[in-house]
Formats: sequence, structure tokens, C-alpha cells
Amino acid sequence: MQAQEMMSGLRIPEMDELGHFFRSLPTSTLVGIGALTAVLAYWLATRPRPIKPPCDLLHQSEEVPNEGGGRRSMMGDPSKLLTHYHDDARTMYEVFQRGLHISGDGPCLGSRLPNQPYKWMSYKEVNARAEHLGSGLLHQGCQPNPNQFIGVFAQNRPEWIISELACYTYSMVVVPLYDTLGPDAIRFIINTAEISTVICDKVEKAQVLLDNVQRQETPCLRRIILMDAFDTDLVECGKGCGVHVQAMQEALGRENYRKPIEGFISLTLNFISAYSGNPKGVMLTHGNVVADFSGFLKVTDKVIFPNQDDCLISFLPLAHMFERLIESVVYCHGGRIGFYQGDIRLLPDDMKALRPTIFPVVPRLLNRMYDKIFNQANTPLKRWLLNFAAKRKGAELSRGVIRSDSIWDKIFFSKIQASLGGRLRMIITGAAPTSPTVLGFLRAALGCQVYEAYGQTECTAGCTYTTPGDWTPGHVGAPLPCNLIKLVDVPEKNYFAAKGEGEVCVKGPNVFKGYLKDPERTAETLDSEGWLHTGDIGKWLHNGTLKIIDRKKHIFKLAQGEYISPEKIENIYIRSEPVAQLYVHGDSLQSCLVGIVVPDPEVMPEWARKKGLIGTYKDLCKNTALKTAILEDLVRLGKAAGLHSFEQVKNIYIHNEMFSIENGLLTPTLKAKRPELKEFFKVKIDRLYSSISM
Ligand SMILES: *[C@@H]1O[C@H](CO)[C@@H](O)[C@H](O)[C@H]1NC(C)=O
Repeated sequence: MQAQEMMSGLRIPEMDELGHFFRSLPTSTLVGIGALTAVLAYWLATRPRPIKPPCDLLHQSEEVPNEGGGRRSMMGDPSKLLTHYHDDARTMYEVFQRGLHISGDGPCLGSRLPNQPYKWMSYKEVNARAEHLGSGLLHQGCQPNPNQFIGVFAQNRPEWIISELACYTYSMVVVPLYDTLGPDAIRFIINTAEISTVICDKVEKAQVLLDNVQRQETPCLRRIILMDAFDTDLVECGKGCGVHVQAMQEALGRENYRKPIEGFISLTLNFISAYSGNPKGVMLTHGNVVADFSGFLKVTDKVIFPNQDDCLISFLPLAHMFERLIESVVYCHGGRIGFYQGDIRLLPDDMKALRPTIFPVVPRLLNRMYDKIFNQANTPLKRWLLNFAAKRKGAELSRGVIRSDSIWDKIFFSKIQASLGGRLRMIITGAAPTSPTVLGFLRAALGCQVYEAYGQTECTAGCTYTTPGDWTPGHVGAPLPCNLIKLVDVPEKNYFAAKGEGEVCVKGPNVFKGYLKDPERTAETLDSEGWLHTGDIGKWLHNGTLKIIDRKKHIFKLAQGEYISPEKIENIYIRSEPVAQLYVHGDSLQSCLVGIVVPDPEVMPEWARKKGLIGTYKDLCKNTALKTAILEDLVRLGKAAGLHSFEQVKNIYIHNEMFSIENGLLTPTLKAKRPELKEFFKVKIDRLYSSISM
């Protein structure tokens, strides 16, 4: 084993460095035995060491008895699922207290003004401010119980964490509100959870809430607590409709200090958008979050344990559990959280000022980084070199070596790494699938551990995770030690558990308690044995990792009776180089499929140029030759992936504007809103069909 490791450690890239070292030595010393010893010593000292995987990478999960084929993680205790990691951190309150104990006056939450360095609030200060805020809420009549819902309506900033902590400290429940859900959803949430108090960041948001009260649409709202400064007009406006508007800094709580109130059960109520109908309020407990958090920690604890020097850049919405969970891992261990300025365009600048070690991202951002790197390599030679260097580092990666000090880093990648602050230890991506090409390249280029998580709010955040050392893309890792995963037959789509395919179901202490006041939809999702049915279709790979291949819903029959799963087709077509987004449409009245394609503004023009098509992005989008070229590429990919001919699009429309949350075509978690897309492109779709039938 040892010998093998050393042998493989001697392969390709190091060989070249060694060769270089040899060449730079005068010949006379080269023959000396002493020099050879020196060279060997040099190599031994500098040879890259692979990450030692915490389990056999060819066997990353195993079936457990009597659980209907459920599989468990190889990390952790085979006899029971992981519920917590640290004995002194079993609630989210204790999680923060643990960090406070480690760090005390050390920096906790940081923010910055434009072009200025980060300013830090210490753990002690954060704790004191949370206690004052929470004491103030109790003094004004809020109750420390699982039905006391406190709305938080703000962008990421230190006060978000302070508000959350205030709730944790006094047994109240946080309900994140976010604008991308739309105004109807905000009213729905306030009324469903009977929220009387909302903590919000900006005057404009407070005004929106007050308008709702004035129109008597949210009669239960009584109190707005503002993070930003405001004037007396707003206070008067509130008075007019019976809402008390106050500043977060008010000393109320300091004068009426209350001791933390133990006995926590409920923790947070996270509303998520539903495919149809109103948003669903996912009820999560302290136990849920601590279990999920411990699962992540357990998988990685041997290779990358969080510590006091860790620093996370916070910009993904805290309204999502994914971000909150990772932040809590950082503050449980005394690390720091630095907030972006609130403008995603300034993120690179914030990264340079903060120099984070932990970077939670979504695939879209990774795609942008990838495109940018390749666009800056503006000659074919540069691109070739970049790919060559990435391949060389990829060879190291496949042996589990991750580093940022190879010759390739020095020549090619150090600038990229510096642009992200130069200290990254870990990148975590989730929320949507990442393209294997992008993931593979960035793993090589960034020289830090890149993990992929898969899950949904109903299992807190994650249920599978990359096993350290398995840097192969194309799957979402193995089950977390806090949950089992089984696949269940979906006969109507021809997926069978016996063949290792089916609907992904999750069971364990990280699985939610149900949707608030919605027994019907709860029963559809959570079965009597406690399995969460995710609606995703997964496939077990032979080494025990899971691959997501399809969605259960969104299937329809074509007119001739063939079942179609548009998302499966989209997942294949999205690999087309010039394509950024697409929507595949069909319905049971038609006998074929059509598609709406948004080309990637940064990639498509160059791709088109190679086909002899010149023009600006907008012009090219109107060019029928481009449309034909993209359609051909899609069909080629479809064929290669084994699509039936009835599963291929017969015609496409090229649209020149991205689907986004703002234009209502994506959900806040960046998934396509299919009914909206269908409505939005109705005229185009009709035209596509009529052009085919002619
Ligand atoms: C696990 O299996 C998949 C599919 O066969 C493969 O792509 C991947 O490289 C394997 N991972 C490891 C670490 O062997």
C-alpha cells in the first residue's frame, strides 16, 4: 500500500518537475551519489500527498437490513444514524455557545463599506446583541414556545445571524421571508404562520409590509423591527395601521434582560415554493439541523476540520437552509463569517478583502468562473495550454492529490486562486447539478477541496455528499451518516429499485416534521414509516455513490402515448457548448417536442464563429443558421445519450434573455418554473408547432 502510494506519487507532473530540477544541476554533481540522495530528499519533502479517503472509495455506501433496500454511509456507527457530533452542541443555541466558548472575544461576524477593510463583531458582542434583541421581544409579549414565529426579511448581513440567534436563545422560531417568493407569497406566509413580528433590513421592505397591513391583508402583523435607520414618517405610517415600528438597537432588552430559555424543539419554518399551489412551510427542529450539520462534519472530519482560522464568505441567501447550515458549522468551531456588501457584482472585490477559506456556491457561479477563465485565455494556444495544465492536475486529482503549489499552479492557476483571496480550503456547491466538465476543471484549477451536496429543505439541506478523495464528477456522493437513502420503483417511468434506479427517499433525524398546517401535502411527501419522498429519480453507481438522473413529476404523454420526461432530456441537451439554458416543451395534444434555447452570451459567439457565423450575440440569436447549428448539436447529444427519436426536439426557438428569478421564470432555488415558461413562450411554441406541421 505504502509502496504503491509512493510509486504513484512519482507519476507524471512531479516527474517533469524532477526533470527540470535535474536539468538545472551542473553535470558534475549529477553523477555524484550525494546529489542523487539530495534529489530524493527534495522529492520526498515536496511530493504531494494524496488525501486519505475516510472509506474505501469503491465501496462508499452499503445496504442495511430490514430497511427496504436503504443504504447507509460507511462513516459512522453501523447500528444507528448520527444525531449529533459534539456532545455539547445538540441544539443550535449550544452550537453558537460552543463557538463563543472557543473564541470569546475573537471575531465572529464581519461586514464592510465600499473600498474599506472588514470590521468585525466579536462572539461576545454577537451573543450580547442576540440576548438583548430576544429579551426585548419577550418583554413586548412574544412567547418562548414552538408556535412563536418571528419573520426575518433581509439580505445577508450580521443582523440576520443576530436575529436568528435571538430566536434560538429564547425558544422562538425563525421564519425567513424573501422577496423572490413574490408579494402574494409574503402575505400568505405572514397569515399562515400568524406572524406578529418581522425583523427587516430596509425601509422599503418595511413599507411593503405596512402597505399590506393598511389594505387589511395581513391583520396579524403588529411589530416591525428595522436594521437600517428610518425616519418618523415610517413610524407615523405604522401608527396609522396599528403597527409598532422600532429600531433593532433599542435598549429595551438591555433594561429587561432575560436569561436564555432552554427547552427548544422547533427551530425554523422555511417556506419553499411549490410546483403548484401556495408555498409550503417546512418545519425543522434543532435536532434536524444539528443532525444534518453533524453528517457533513463526520464525512470530512479526517481531512478538513473547521477551526478558528476558518472564514466563510456569506452571499448565498440565508433564507435557504444550505447557507445557514454551513455558516453554523463555521461558528460552532469559532470561525468567522464575512458578509458581502450586498451586491453580487462586488463579490470578487469582497473575496479579495476577506480572503475566505470556505466558499459555499451554486453551480451557476461555478459556470461563470469557468467561462471567464476560458474567455481570458483568448488565443487557441492559451486555451490549449490551459486545458493541458488542467489535465495534468486532473491526473493528480484522480489519485486524490489536491494542492496549489505545483508547477502548473505557479504558471497558470495562481492568478485565478489569488482572485478568490488565495486562501480557499473548501468550496461547497449544492442546489442544482454542476456540469462534470466545469467541476473537473475547477477542482484542478483552484487547488482546494470542492464538495458537492445534494438534498432539499425537507431533509434540512443535504442527504448526500462527496466523499473526500473521490474527486470524480458525475454523481452526488454517498448518503450522509445522518440518513439512509433508498430508491423506490416508479413503474410509469420504467425505473425499478431492483435495477438500482428509482425515486430517492430519505430517512433519518435530519428529515423534517411536516408542512405547517398542510396535512395533505405532508402525507404526499412523508410516508408512515418516516421516508421522505424527494421526487428526484436516482441511480446507484457500483461504488455506492448516487447519481440523480431525472424527476418523477413533470412527465406527460405525447399524442401517440409515449411518456416524456422533459427534465431528463434537458439534462442531456444542457451539455451543448453554446447553450446556457433551455426548456423542452410538449403535451399530450402534440406528437413531438419543441424547445426554447437561451445561448450563453459569453460562449456562443465564439462557437458560432467557428461555424463561420459572425455577429453580435443579439444578431446571431436571430440567425436561422445558428438555430440550425444548435438544433443539430442538441440532436447529436441526444442520440449519443440514447434518446428515442420521439424524445428529441423537432424545432427550437432561440431566445436572447436568460430565464431568471427576476423575470419570474426560475424559482428562488434556480429551478425552471415550467408552468410559467409554458405561458411566457406560448406564442413562440404555437409557432414552432405550426412550422413543423407545414
Ligand atoms: C464510481 O463509479 C462511477 C461510475 O462507474 C465512476 O464514474 C467513478 O469514477 C467511480 N468513483 C471512484 C472513486 O472510483
